[in-house]
Amino acid sequence: MEYAIIVACTSTGGIAKDGKIPWDIPADMARFARITTETECDSSGYINAVIMGRKTWESLPDKHRPLRGRINIVISSTLNQDDITGARVARSLTHAHTLLHEYPSVAKVFVIGGATLYTEALRNFQYTSVYMTLVKDDMLCDTFFPMDMLYSRYHIDYQTFDMHSSSGVTYSFSLLTQRPTVLTRDCTG
Ligand SMILES: NC(=O)c1ccc[n+]([C@@H]2O[C@H](COP(=O)([O-])OP(=O)(O)OC[C@H]3O[C@@H](n4cnc5c(N)ncnc54)[C@H](OP(=O)(O)O)[C@@H]3O)[C@@H](O)[C@H]2O)c1
Repeated sequence: MEYAIIVACTSTGGIAKDGKIPWDIPADMARFARITTETECDSSGYINAVIMGRKTWESLPDKHRPLRGRINIVISSTLNQDDITGARVARSLTHAHTLLHEYPSVAKVFVIGGATLYTEALRNFQYTSVYMTLVKDDMLCDTFFPMDMLYSRYHIDYQTFDMHSSSGVTYSFSLLTQRPTVLTRDCTG
């Protein structure tokens, strides 16, 4: 199983304002769907999983909930399994990983937000990649991805040129991978 994080954020780590994502970048939505759904083992019935916090789950429009073609896991200390349809409820990131062992053919596991879960996943050495959409415009946000932790633990493997959405937002796509020193440091304490 591979473990990755996927996020769209501003250069200061902004991911949301008032419970909503403050930009509209259709190419980012398409990239998110493709990366989190595609497996390299499609013909053998493999499937990916997405893990998210309760507020991220609740922010998904009804028509996209659960996220199709992926195992959905929602982390919450207040929701019970009977409260939601189409997703599993876990009490922690570790609990979510344990639930995934019930599925025989999981290819990739993505943490898709929000802020607390991103911090937890970045601290977990199993999460070796971060797929990032970097929004270059200033956007007012009240929820943040921990950028300092990201750059101390991961380095940029590739970054595209700047692109522009039809609504005029400038953005780029990048892939970051864990620095080898993270594994050494975390395993030796
Ligand atoms: N730009 C992006 O890429 C992106 C990605 C994802 C989300 N978002 C946006 O971010 C916002 C939501 O993010 P958020 O940070 O406010 O909330 P969130 O992480 O989605 O949800 C927070 C809730 O998740 C549960 N939770 C998280 N970690 C937990 C843990 N370790 N143990 C138990 N429960 C845990 C708790 O639920 P209970 O209160 O039920 O215990 C907590 O209140 C939304 O507006 C969404 O649109 C943006």
